[in-house]
Amino acid sequence: MVKEYISSNKDRFISELFDWLRIPSVSADSRHKGDVRKAAEFLKEKFTAAGVDQAELCETKGHPIVYAEKIINPSLPTVLVYGHYDVQPPDPLELWDSPPFEPVIKSDKIFARGSCDDKGQVYMHVKAFETMVKHNALPCNIKFMVEGEEEVGSDNLGTFVKENKSRLKADIILISDTALISLDHPSITTGLRGLSYMEVEVTGPNRDLHSGVYGGAVANPINVLCKMIASLHDENGKVAIPGFYDKIAALSDDERKAINKAPFDLEEYKKELGIAEIVGEKGYTTLERTGIRPTLDVNGIWGGYTGEGAKTVLPSKAHAKISMRLVPNQVSGEITELFTKHFQSIVPKYVTVKVRAHHGGEPAVTPTNSPAFQAASKAFEEVWGKRPIPTRDGGSIPIVALFKKELGLDTVLMGFGLDSDAIHSPNEHYGVKNFMLGIETIVAFYRHYAKK
Ligand code: BES
Ligand code: MN
Ligand code: MN
Repeated sequence: MVKEYISSNKDRFISELFDWLRIPSVSADSRHKGDVRKAAEFLKEKFTAAGVDQAELCETKGHPIVYAEKIINPSLPTVLVYGHYDVQPPDPLELWDSPPFEPVIKSDKIFARGSCDDKGQVYMHVKAFETMVKHNALPCNIKFMVEGEEEVGSDNLGTFVKENKSRLKADIILISDTALISLDHPSITTGLRGLSYMEVEVTGPNRDLHSGVYGGAVANPINVLCKMIASLHDENGKVAIPGFYDKIAALSDDERKAINKAPFDLEEYKKELGIAEIVGEKGYTTLERTGIRPTLDVNGIWGGYTGEGAKTVLPSKAHAKISMRLVPNQVSGEITELFTKHFQSIVPKYVTVKVRAHHGGEPAVTPTNSPAFQAASKAFEEVWGKRPIPTRDGGSIPIVALFKKELGLDTVLMGFGLDSDAIHSPNEHYGVKNFMLGIETIVAFYRHYAKK
């Protein structure tokens, strides 16, 4: 009955999601402030239509948080669903095959910014909820907290959580904002990496110079920055910041074995990315390098002349944005400090450097023996015909560690995307099958969870 309701409402579910995807809720871009709010209002209305007791926009110093709940019986368990309705900027626009905010279905995939990360995945929860309400099959209390600042570091969410502890009281957090191994291999994420995001500025001469008149005699800040960045990894692919690895929790051989049990085809991986070879920290597999090992990557680098044609210039300044992915028990604030000290210590006399921190977040691991995890596992088995494989994801959702710290709650990461969905990239997409099976799996989760 439930299954039939979901499949017979497929077109409507997707057309509603399309309406939402058309609103460019780019949190990073202040020109889209109004659109971000519109996307929040849209969601609030859909919650109301689906049958919540109450839904509201909670104002923050930044973009609003959408909160909704349905309490059927205070003595029953409560699930708190978290997600985000903001999306990454769509740039570079010219690399999209169809406009990012005009969703289309091609090869049974929805193409649009936010289709997978995270509007498409949040919307599965709205429709799963609607389905349960329609069939009088909601077996526990449910709270929704959907924020609009995840892609810019969730600056105001911590305050909201701290100020609304009793309202957010729940037994478990449920999040769909991660990926499956593949459609053939359902999986549940059991760990996420943390993050320290830095920006550096190297300054040489007090103004841009003619690169012929001065070149060879005055240090070029871009050349210097490149050398400094190159020195941040050693020949074994390790991060060469003193103390960087000191706190990392050791993994047993069994834990490493379990991680490497997940199906992974290296040739397929390289082919899909168009690369001839992989690199990384010596002594670790690709799954370990992205799941349980910390990294350092330049996310952007600029300076000098980057416009059309050629301009001969020896620039005054060079800049880079550098992120580090962290694993348990590294602490974002401490790694930020280690980076800052180290970067300042390697600066040559002929330039100066400024280092500042952007947002960060702590790594998280989620328990696999909790009733909620077991319920998620059973739900996958029921809908996908296979027991889900536990995996460690390389991305970050800092709120998971925050929920544990502030509310004492564990999270189940029941995500339905695929690594190949191109989130944060041009042509982001989300499988219609993932969307539809996801709704079914969420409904099944509640049924199994309530039985406990
Ligand atoms: N949904 C992603 C995180 C993610 C993606 C986890 C794939 C696991 C698999 C989330 O929206 C995201 O992009 N997070 C940011 C961090 C945030 C602090 C900006 C990230 O991981 O870069
Ligand atoms: Mn996300
Ligand atoms: Mn994201």
